[in-house]
Amino acid sequence: MKAIGIFDSGIGGLTVFSQVEKLLPSENLIYLGDTARVPYGTKSKETIERFAQEDTQFLLQKNVKFMIAACNTVSALALPFLKKEMNIPIMGVIEPAVQKAIFLSQNSRIGVIGTRATIESKAYDMAFAQLDPSVQVFSQACPLLVPLVEEGWLNEPEAFSITQKYFEPLIEKKIDTLILGCTHYPLLSAIIQKAIGEKVTLIDSAKATAEVCLKTLDERNLLNKNQQGQHQFFVTDDTEGFRKKGEKFLKRPMSHVERADLEQP
Ligand code: DGL
Repeated sequence: MKAIGIFDSGIGGLTVFSQVEKLLPSENLIYLGDTARVPYGTKSKETIERFAQEDTQFLLQKNVKFMIAACNTVSALALPFLKKEMNIPIMGVIEPAVQKAIFLSQNSRIGVIGTRATIESKAYDMAFAQLDPSVQVFSQACPLLVPLVEEGWLNEPEAFSITQKYFEPLIEKKIDTLILGCTHYPLLSAIIQKAIGEKVTLIDSAKATAEVCLKTLDERNLLNKNQQGQHQFFVTDDTEGFRKKGEKFLKRPMSHVERADLEQP
């Protein structure tokens, strides 16, 4: 049975994996985290495209039927390139989140936070312009948030004050909806909600992506039913370290974490 391939620059894409697992329990899932080369969010478009191409080549060798670029940075900078290269369907995490934000916003003033590469690419602005040009988009790069999550600082006062500082310009703009445009940010949603204000609706792109994945597979007759899906995890660096952190992310034991050699799949 063919699997769904999910890849990210590292561990953060497990937020997407976890939502896909919940919504599609019968599917085989193969996760690739490029932990040796994370972060992607500080790199150039050329480098991100090259890394993303190597990630997808690895998954294609595993015979997947559908792919999810769980990484916002890859979705922002490399998705058009990957779509041209591949002969199986691939989706990113930006469009599902944008669609959901448009649906939920009352005042059409929407904030987006992400890595520097994602925000500078203007991929979210372009997606909004295409889907609803009446929306006003206010973006903010939050480069310190990924390292905070990597360190497991999810509720510390320091994490809160950094987040508060990043959000000052967004609060002035009176947004009513905020897209968490990075794999890691759903893990900070408690302090993000506190810092941006309880009235602002947070959009977790992981959940929105899983919903679109289900819909797309159904439309293309690619869904598996009536069996328990198998899960495999691959990383390009330390497998044990990934397993330990991953178990915290997923809040359950993980098996089958293997080392991926992207040059020799
Ligand atoms: N996965 C990246 C993203 O969603 C965050 C980590 C990185 O910079 O590689 O943008």
